[in-house]
Amino acid sequence: MSKVILITGASSGIGLETAVYLAKKKFIVYGCSRRLDRMQPIISAGGFALKLDVTNENEIINIVEHVIKIEKKIDVLWNNAGFGLWGAVEDISIDRAKYQFDVNLFGLARMTKEVLPHMRKKNSGLIINTSSVGGKIYTPLGSWYHSTKHAIEGWSDCLGFEVKKFGINISLLQPGMIVSEFGNIMLENLEKNSKKSPYHKLNQAMIRGLKKNIQNPIGSHPIVVAKCVEKIILSKNPKKRYLVGYGARLMLFVRGFFGDRIFELFLKAAGLKG
Ligand SMILES: NC(=O)c1ccc[n+]([C@@H]2O[C@H](COP(=O)([O-])OP(=O)(O)OC[C@H]3O[C@@H](n4cnc5c(N)ncnc54)[C@H](OP(=O)(O)O)[C@@H]3O)[C@@H](O)[C@H]2O)c1
Repeated sequence: MSKVILITGASSGIGLETAVYLAKKKFIVYGCSRRLDRMQPIISAGGFALKLDVTNENEIINIVEHVIKIEKKIDVLWNNAGFGLWGAVEDISIDRAKYQFDVNLFGLARMTKEVLPHMRKKNSGLIINTSSVGGKIYTPLGSWYHSTKHAIEGWSDCLGFEVKKFGINISLLQPGMIVSEFGNIMLENLEKNSKKSPYHKLNQAMIRGLKKNIQNPIGSHPIVVAKCVEKIILSKNPKKRYLVGYGARLMLFVRGFFGDRIFELFLKAAGLKG
């Protein structure tokens, strides 16, 4: 019987590419996001599209109920929805920072809490949480984004311990640079947050780099993530972490092997000077 896969953040980038890829492979795919119109390719590939804001508890309850009613199970939950709030700590209000956590961490936690009882009943299940290589490293002006991803790493490791005895696996996906709408949203946030900022030089270096990368994208095509997610789903004994895509291994290696000082020189060499 085909696996039932519930995916958040399925309207663009990594999530959309993977949802379409998996639906074409005859998995039963339910893609969720706020922009229903953007998920038409999932329906064309044989999957389903549901409207969901991961900050809305009622929508989450309804979606999980809906899928369980129809399919009687959820084999895989892939918590992928997220965005990057970039800007200096001084320039970002605590309310915006809380919203960043609400989407990236608490959204994922809400989905997980709603799906877990169904997986426990079946004594099986897989939850994939999209972290980032940024869950292990840091970049300038990314305090709030990186802290959500560092939090997802610790949160998922602890959860993995709790649910293992119920036959449930937790895996972390750690993408490097992947071509998607992520950079556009990051740039939009940074430009908004950096007006009248005392961190002008650093903001401008980052804005220039982002614009250059949007015009001539450096990064992997999201298909590399789709294939990696398929590998996790088909694995009998999934690993805790999957590094995937451009620069992920290199960035982790530079910080892990050489330490923070050399890592920061590496960031400066990439043009990120304050
Ligand atoms: N691209 C990269 O280089 C990269 C690297 C490391 C990690 N990641 C992570 O990969 C994940 C996917 O990002 P992406 O690169 O594919 O970016 P993307 O193209 O901007 O896609 C982000 C997805 O998240 C959804 N989303 C955002 N806020 C949401 C909310 N409140 N409720 C429900 N869905 C929401 C968006 O859907 P709607 O706006 O339609 O709701 C969209 O489908 C994110 O968690 C990101 O942190 C990306």
